[in-house]
Amino acid sequence: MPKFLTMDDFDFKGKTTLIRVDFNSPIDPQTKRILDETRIRVHAETIQELVNKGARVVVLAHQGRPGEPDFIPLKQHAEILDKVVDGPVKYVADLYGEKAQNAIERLQDGEVLVLDNVRAFPEERKKGTPEEHSKRDLVQKLAPLADVFVNDAFAAAHRAHVSIVGFTALLPSTAGRIMEKELKALRKVLEAPEKPCAFILGGAKADDALEISRYVLDNNIADHILTGGVAGHVFLAAKGFDLGEPNTQLLKKKDLMSLVPGVKDLMKEYPDNVEAPIDVAVEVDKKRKEILVSRLPSVHSIYDIGTETIRKYGAIIRRAKSIVVSGPVGVFENEEFVQGTKGILEAVAASEAFSLVGGGHTVAAVEELGLAKKMSYVSTAGGALIEFLMGKELPGVVALERAATRA
Ligand code: 3PG
Ligand code: MG
Repeated sequence: MPKFLTMDDFDFKGKTTLIRVDFNSPIDPQTKRILDETRIRVHAETIQELVNKGARVVVLAHQGRPGEPDFIPLKQHAEILDKVVDGPVKYVADLYGEKAQNAIERLQDGEVLVLDNVRAFPEERKKGTPEEHSKRDLVQKLAPLADVFVNDAFAAAHRAHVSIVGFTALLPSTAGRIMEKELKALRKVLEAPEKPCAFILGGAKADDALEISRYVLDNNIADHILTGGVAGHVFLAAKGFDLGEPNTQLLKKKDLMSLVPGVKDLMKEYPDNVEAPIDVAVEVDKKRKEILVSRLPSVHSIYDIGTETIRKYGAIIRRAKSIVVSGPVGVFENEEFVQGTKGILEAVAASEAFSLVGGGHTVAAVEELGLAKKMSYVSTAGGALIEFLMGKELPGVVALERAATRA
């Protein structure tokens, strides 16, 4: 297994340390305020360790995408970080110009400086190799001022962007604590999961459910795939159920009918491992009504799994020794349809198994239900986690591994 360096391999005292974190947070489109501080608080742990070790910390991060309402400067992020980190946190409204360079040069041991949104650099989101990206302005201007590069942004490691991979070609580079922890937890389930292993796939996007299922079944990682949410719709359709007008329309609108043949093949190959709901909850006059899937099609929208499915999945979860949850199994934000998500997450929380929970909505559900502390690991990643679960290599991680071979 290729290895990256960790923060234990470095002495940070007096070292100008460029750290890439993932502060990307939900933003209120009207007020432009940060709605959830979780990611900032998570990375504050790594930054605090660097501060305690006497590093001069320069923080690089992105927020939103240019042209979108959540593309804002990192000033608020810096203010929140200053609240959480014991020690001074400054912000400069510049990324790699003279102002930023001067501020970096003035940093003292144990001080933190947050630079502007890296996506203010027009080429940031181009895909490239570490060598290609190391030639771009952002890296050319900042790397000479720094001694070490720390990549703590696991949640953005699936992007081969300039600030994710470029510095690793020029500077001694290490994984940050969050990157290290995320990879350790994920590798635990993907490389040597304790058996039996169950994957619960839900959420409003089902695009990745087939690819994840295929990867974890073909590689003998998962023994059970339990589907809910929109993935449940797709897997029911693959079983030959006509879901009824609104549900079929939803699948067509999301362009998910194309997954059905692949899911059919998967179910034929793994008849004992892949589960679709046996009953569902539909919305009738704003209320929950449960029906067995044998009673489909329904003219009503399916918003949750039903009681029988919760019981069936619950029994599998209780026997499992490792569990991955990606996506809520119902529209838990609506209290009529929280039951499925609550039942499943409570079963996971009650189990002794190693449990890994990830993705923005899943984490929100776990927090809302007060179950976060009962999970073995809660990942802050969305897209990066999905790609990891599909067996893909993450460019940010590969870059750290390559940098380690040069160290
Ligand atoms: C995320 O929130 O998933 C990461 O920060 C990556 O953001 P992106 O999808 O805009 O690249
Ligand atoms: Mg402070």
